[in-house]
Amino acid sequence: MTYLKSVRNVFALFLCLFALAAQAQTAAPAKLPNVVILATGGTIAGTGATSTTTVGYTAATVGVDALIKAVPELQKVAHVSGEQVFQIASENMGNEQWLSLAKRVNALLAQPNVDGIVITHGTDTIEETAYFLNLVVKSRKPVVVVGAMRPSTAISADGPINLYNAVLTAGSLEAVGKGVLVVMNDQINAAREVTKTNTVTTDTFKSPELGMLGYVVGNQPHFYRASTRKHTVDTEFDISKLDTLPAVDIAYTYANVGPTAVNAFVAAGVKGLVHAGVGDGSLPTKVRPALSSARAKGVIVVRSSRVGQGIVARNGEANDDELDFVVSDTLNPQKARILLMLALTKTNNTKEIQRMFYTY
Ligand code: DGL
Repeated sequence: MTYLKSVRNVFALFLCLFALAAQAQTAAPAKLPNVVILATGGTIAGTGATSTTTVGYTAATVGVDALIKAVPELQKVAHVSGEQVFQIASENMGNEQWLSLAKRVNALLAQPNVDGIVITHGTDTIEETAYFLNLVVKSRKPVVVVGAMRPSTAISADGPINLYNAVLTAGSLEAVGKGVLVVMNDQINAAREVTKTNTVTTDTFKSPELGMLGYVVGNQPHFYRASTRKHTVDTEFDISKLDTLPAVDIAYTYANVGPTAVNAFVAAGVKGLVHAGVGDGSLPTKVRPALSSARAKGVIVVRSSRVGQGIVARNGEANDDELDFVVSDTLNPQKARILLMLALTKTNNTKEIQRMFYTY
């Protein structure tokens, strides 16, 4: 009886293995992710007079369908669809475009059949748009912002490979929950830390000191780090009902600077002012009274630094407790402006706003 039982068990096992093998052979090919490309313009959509024109070209001339058509390899890695949301050089990106783009991103990501989004964008303000989206996108799905430093008509244009890598990343499970990413030059950078470091070269985007998150190599993203600051679904900001953002400007500091810019911004009615100080956010004695007066009029003042890296320490170069100022932590002035604008949609309380600068 035992012998018969063991023969029966072996036979049953064989049948199961055969069924599994047959199923595997007929299994459908791996399902490709659905990635939507939102095109906004920039050099990636730019054209030059000749194939060697890499400066002096026209940005924002090629449409999203042509960008997708120029990279047929995209079809092998994702089901790609495109929308032309704007067609502008990114130095002209503004609050209105950011709100419209963010609302479209959130609407698309709420759809179960959308797995990720790529935004093609001019590189001049890519870091700002990426950081704004990092604070207002309400999904863990990947959002990847991508650009190019050479126009589409140039020899060795970097746009096609950047777009391919961006779509790969946006369609990947590895990028889920990582926050908004900038993917260019085979590298993956976090929206919070990435910045443009060179006016013309293709390796311009870096996260100096704090470092990039990983690479796109061999047709897939490789992550080695993740941002420790809150982003996307973990932020307290909601732009769904906003049509405008509070006016916040940046006053740049340099040797011999006076209060003219600060006074002009206050007279123009700003709600917040970022001081791009020298060094650790130092306040020149000719500017300090103007900033104190701005604060007294209800303007929220954030001390940042033109240096771009390192912590702007509270009560370091100025007595922030006494002045009732906020410090930007490690955010550069252009990103401090973005966080301050969103903070002002929630509160005017400087202690609350300082908490936000230590959170995001
Ligand atoms: N006008 C610049 C912009 O649209 C061109 C730079 C670029 O896109 O690389 O940001």
